[in-house]
Amino acid sequence: MSQRTFSIIKPDAVKKGYAAAILADIEKAGFKIVSIKKISLSKAQAEGFYHVHAARPFFGELTEFMASGPIFPMVLEKDNAIADLRTLMGATDPAKADEGTLRKKYASSIGENAVHGSDAEETAAFEIGYFFAGLELA
Ligand code: CMP
Repeated sequence: MSQRTFSIIKPDAVKKGYAAAILADIEKAGFKIVSIKKISLSKAQAEGFYHVHAARPFFGELTEFMASGPIFPMVLEKDNAIADLRTLMGATDPAKADEGTLRKKYASSIGENAVHGSDAEETAAFEIGYFFAGLELA
């Protein structure tokens, strides 16, 4: 059944000029881009997005990084979108990611790992709503 998920092209990948290549890989994998924009987050906005990780030792580093430059948040749609995007992205640590995955191809470290993808329906709903208004999701 068709499902929506949320993704971000992170600051490292945007700075390196990989945004278009990542979008092409996402489309080739069968995802429809429902909505996309380019924005820069403040540290507080990054903290709000990653609030579930607030107690982690890497929270400061993660939110500094996510506020360090422009990102492309987007909403994607396909059958089984949440799980399929996570397969396409590969492991959180690019050193452990399979060949051909987005993190293997475009990421440099566990902290600067090129892309984000929602891990469950509940998180996808929160994350889509954090960045997009209903009118942007027709
Ligand atoms: P993401 O899928 O966006 O969700 C949480 C992020 O925390 C994750 O990608 C990583 O970029 C980051 N992260 C996870 N583990 C570590 C770590 N050990 N050090 C730094 N960042 C991490």
